[in-house]
Amino acid sequence: MHIFAANFKMNKTQEETREYFSSFFGSAPKCKVMIAVPYTSLAAAKKHPKWMQIGAQNVHFASSGAYTGEISTDMLKEAGASFTLVAHSERRQYFGETDQTAALRAKAALSAGLEVIFCVGENLAAREAGRTKRVLHRQLTCGLKDITNVENLVVAYEPVWAIGTGKAASDAEIEDAHMYIKKTLYKMFKKDIPVLYGGSVNEENVYRICKIDGVDGALVGGASLRPERMKELITRGTKDL
Ligand code: PGA
Repeated sequence: MHIFAANFKMNKTQEETREYFSSFFGSAPKCKVMIAVPYTSLAAAKKHPKWMQIGAQNVHFASSGAYTGEISTDMLKEAGASFTLVAHSERRQYFGETDQTAALRAKAALSAGLEVIFCVGENLAAREAGRTKRVLHRQLTCGLKDITNVENLVVAYEPVWAIGTGKAASDAEIEDAHMYIKKTLYKMFKKDIPVLYGGSVNEENVYRICKIDGVDGALVGGASLRPERMKELITRGTKDL
């Protein structure tokens, strides 16, 4: 089953979150829908339609302790999250996320029973230097090295240069990266792990992107912020599935 995930990033107050979910009614689509909201909006998202899942954008790896400003897996679950993003490129770029801290987060979240959308992707310099696969290999093998239970694992391929730029990767670039990621994950876990594409996905390109070999859905930032756009995106992305 395809997965359509949304990442609100640092957008939406509680009131705006309530408004968003109150207009997101309708019958369940033929796909899984996962919406990652800010921590402060988890409670406000509680009135979401039953067929969608609400999650967070990050989590700490310790169960409790002196970690000012951090949130644990138990806190997330209590607040209504069933999943979390891990190692989004903005965490890697601006907040010091490394392959090592990403690995700790993924392990803690999966062990706590949360689903994880683990993000990987090369930046422009790496792509231009022909190092895309080397970067993906490192991010996957280091970031997921201690994982044994992969039932709740989803990977998102998000080339950094395509995020928020309005310029999605080409079909060939997406297929090449997804096939490589799938192959690497299969070697690691002997399972077919779902791989989402993220980076300037919108209503216009979602159908085409979801048809590419190795693409199991999309992780959407900017275009997910208005419910009518997200609904349209899901409708178009699931056409013919
Ligand atoms: P975008 O963001 O859809 O705005 O490019 C995607 C993401 O960062 O997950």
